[in-house]
Amino acid sequence: MKVTVFGIGYVGLVQAAVLASVGHDVVCVDIDQAKVDNLKKGLIPIYEPGLTPLVEETYKSGLLNFTTDAKAGVEHGDVQFIAVGTPPDEDGSADLKYVVTVAETIATHMTNAKIVINKSTVPVGTADKVTAKITSVLATRKVELEFNVVSNPEFLKEGAAVSDCKKPDRIVIGTDSEDVKEAMRELYAPFNRNHERIIFMDVRSAELTKYAANCMLATKISFMNEMSNLAELLGADIEAVRHGIGSDSRIGYQFIYPGCGYGGSCFPKDVQALVQTAHKVNYKPALLEAVESVNFHQKKKLFTHLHNHFSGDLAGKTIAIWGLSFKPQTDDMREAPARELMEALWQAGAIVQAYDPEAMEECQRIYGTRNDLTLAGTKESALKNADALVICTEWSQFKAPDFDTIAQQLNNKVLIDGRNLFEPSSMKKKGFTYYAIGRGESVKKV
Ligand SMILES: NC(=O)c1ccc[n+]([C@@H]2O[C@H](COP(=O)([O-])OP(=O)(O)OC[C@H]3O[C@@H](n4cnc5c(N)ncnc54)[C@H](O)[C@@H]3O)[C@@H](O)[C@H]2O)c1
Repeated sequence: MKVTVFGIGYVGLVQAAVLASVGHDVVCVDIDQAKVDNLKKGLIPIYEPGLTPLVEETYKSGLLNFTTDAKAGVEHGDVQFIAVGTPPDEDGSADLKYVVTVAETIATHMTNAKIVINKSTVPVGTADKVTAKITSVLATRKVELEFNVVSNPEFLKEGAAVSDCKKPDRIVIGTDSEDVKEAMRELYAPFNRNHERIIFMDVRSAELTKYAANCMLATKISFMNEMSNLAELLGADIEAVRHGIGSDSRIGYQFIYPGCGYGGSCFPKDVQALVQTAHKVNYKPALLEAVESVNFHQKKKLFTHLHNHFSGDLAGKTIAIWGLSFKPQTDDMREAPARELMEALWQAGAIVQAYDPEAMEECQRIYGTRNDLTLAGTKESALKNADALVICTEWSQFKAPDFDTIAQQLNNKVLIDGRNLFEPSSMKKKGFTYYAIGRGESVKKV
């Protein structure tokens, strides 16, 4: 099928490359000229396992193309994906300006029937807004053309985006049109061979499904973080509790890790956006508000440990940070706990020496060059003469480090572990002052 994807980000680029890899003829449109130029040279703007060879291969085959020419993009695809960002605006609602702009672009240039697929995460009712925008532009152009707006939310996980897209758990499609259902079956047939993955529903339910999924996951994280705070106060070990509850098949082990709070481009903004959606229909989403509030406080936890350990005097201290991305296997630092920590440290006059396997360029892009930030070439060099080490992201290479090297390089054997990678008793034996999340004996009461 001829497919156009608007927005070459984490979702758009992965989706486009995966669709091209099974034989669809895909054109990607973005407003970022540099991004398009780089992609044509084989420079992939994001780190995502397996993405670079997939893009190279599909670009070479001619089935994946990149352009800033929106008119050419609209002409190309019978199917037009909208995969642009939906960032939070001032009150936390999803800002739909990029989505609406693409709808306007499609309506301005279309000359035949189109299926417009909303892949961006958008509030319930957005398909109606996109439909209204296209209708009004077509009316201004005085042309009558058939189009359908479909909700097809994306559930990929950054860090596993390519495999998630190739083997989705489910393909949610919100539409009432039988013709559109048939076209969507054809589009996704290569991903639907093993068993039926397509779940058809009405548009509003599809839009809500995406928020419900992310809010459920965020709830699991905040629930565990709340339990970890209680464990600290009650002298219990959250890791024992985690095993104890995960063994119940109704609860399960997945996604119940306590930590330094959720980040990324999705959970924080999607929880906030659904809270705002609820307010708009005069509903108080008490649970979602609590999920957000627990996370807000949890993201301050690592700094609090440091602040308490150094009795509030962080000025001039050097803090080593391992892990900048919001989770492993990505370079995405949007809303990452490491950012909250670094910014609080700078505010307190501390110096940061950071290392991340993939997110250093992104960190440089966000913060530029500053005297109180050193981006170290290796995880070991980040430790040199630092007064403490903080682990923000659970990259594999941080899970079994050489503790002798850590002890030698640091000025003080202080380790703050935002991901509970180590056993408090064994860290104590090694002579470290070790703070983790919700682990009874690691807590320093103040
Ligand atoms: N990142 C994820 O893990 C993930 C997962 C599922 C769903 N989503 C949702 O998918 C959407 C996109 O997220 P993302 O992380 O890929 O965003 P992103 O910020 O990485 O990429 C968005 C891209 O859209 C481009 N763009 C903006 N306006 C445009 C226009 N008028 N025409 C063409 N391109 C335009 C930008 O230049 C950018 O390259 C969001 O709604 C997000 O919530 C993201």
